[in-house]
Amino acid sequence: MVKRNTCIFISGKGTNLKNLIAHSRHANFPIKISLVISNNRKAEGINYAKKFKIPYIFINTKLKNYENKILLNLQKYKISFICLAGFMKIISKNLIMNYQKKIINIHPSLLPKFKGLNTFSRILKEKEVKAGCTVHYVNEKLDGGSKIIQKFFFVNDDDNELILQEKTHKLEYRAFPEAIIKIFRKN
Ligand code: GRF
Repeated sequence: MVKRNTCIFISGKGTNLKNLIAHSRHANFPIKISLVISNNRKAEGINYAKKFKIPYIFINTKLKNYENKILLNLQKYKISFICLAGFMKIISKNLIMNYQKKIINIHPSLLPKFKGLNTFSRILKEKEVKAGCTVHYVNEKLDGGSKIIQKFFFVNDDDNELILQEKTHKLEYRAFPEAIIKIFRKN
């Protein structure tokens, strides 16, 4: 199988990155993680890139030309697929245009509900019956592209933000790889 050269964008802990690295090491998984981009120099997730000897770069998204730096590096590493895994910055139109239908994101809610930040506190406040995660294509709208996979669980009366986060993460570790397999099975 020819694996797609993939770049994972992160900003924080990188537990989804860690999970995708583990999956990508299987011969039949459709992607190879060829580059990790972080916009946070202190992102813990960078340690997974180091541990598994995956090239990684820091992009200062406060600088004007940061987008060019991203595009140049994507070309350099021949990237044909992008996964946003906790990347806390909206992807620019230009990047989306260059990678139409080739950028996916994971979001910790059942989209279209709870786009944006602070999903768990909002889920509790709204007394939602269900919570979960969504893997979707990225377009110009925040958390707005078409869905690839969604997984849910029922919220218990005694769930707090931390518990919701843990339960959601567990689902994410299944949803992200399944979504990637689904995308490339179609092609
Ligand atoms: C995940 O919950 C994801 O849904 C959201 O950011 C979080 C990233 O977690 N977009 P991690 O950095 O992969 O641990």
